[in-house]
Amino acid sequence: MSGSTITPWVVGNWKMNPMQSDSQQLIQSLKQYLQAGPIDVAQCRIAVAPTAIALLSVQQQLQDAAVEVLTVAQDLSRVAGTGAYTGEVSAELLKDSAIHYVLIGHSERRELFGDDVSQITAKVTHALNAGLQIIYCVGESLEQREQGLAEQVVLQQICDLSSVVKAEQWQNIKIAYEPIWAIGTGKTASPEDAQAMHEKIRAGLKQLTGYGQDIAILYGGSVKADNAEALAACPDINGALVGGASLQAESFYKIAQAFAQTKH
Ligand code: 13P
Repeated sequence: MSGSTITPWVVGNWKMNPMQSDSQQLIQSLKQYLQAGPIDVAQCRIAVAPTAIALLSVQQQLQDAAVEVLTVAQDLSRVAGTGAYTGEVSAELLKDSAIHYVLIGHSERRELFGDDVSQITAKVTHALNAGLQIIYCVGESLEQREQGLAEQVVLQQICDLSSVVKAEQWQNIKIAYEPIWAIGTGKTASPEDAQAMHEKIRAGLKQLTGYGQDIAILYGGSVKADNAEALAACPDINGALVGGASLQAESFYKIAQAFAQTKH
């Protein structure tokens, strides 16, 4: 029991994985785990973020899960509405397909696909204005950490966010702290380091909004079944954004179970 009243969220970010037949198996297997050992939604919310092309079929397949599993988009367009924007998926199109959640600002998008602050803030604006809930990702590189800039970088990313969020919209936001050096590397931030950054983020959020105490701050970066419990035990870690380990139903389920049990 951590003392926090925030319901933890465990979100599987599938990134550019898997092929369709594997995706079906993964969902099937996750549903079996949830059937055999349901995780109360009041103890932990479970969500998956498949590729854009799989969003609706995954959502459909999850309809009869024993426990509600939410479907999250990995990204959205920096352009709103509908129109002549080849290749894009807007906030309104997501909403229209009952996809109510979206990741924004993942470091892979920032680093590999040119998502800069102006694009990210445009995405945040459109998502919130369309009534979506967002998981906004922040995190420093190894170089920035070694230069002692980690906190400054992360808090700046929170400031970027706050520049476009209207007062009431804060309740539709979660933060994911994902130190870039811990993503896909097997190097998790220690629970102490992660908690220290989450505490700084929490303090920053409290200065920006009255909802600051209630905003879930997820940790991401090599979260696995065997380190989830120690992370979950940290008071300001309110869930996990899981990459690699979310592609195996067993490890993903165990991570969710660790958060559900440790936080309650
Ligand atoms: P890994 O869990 O594979 O390190 O990925 C973390 C991540 O980027 C989730 O968004």
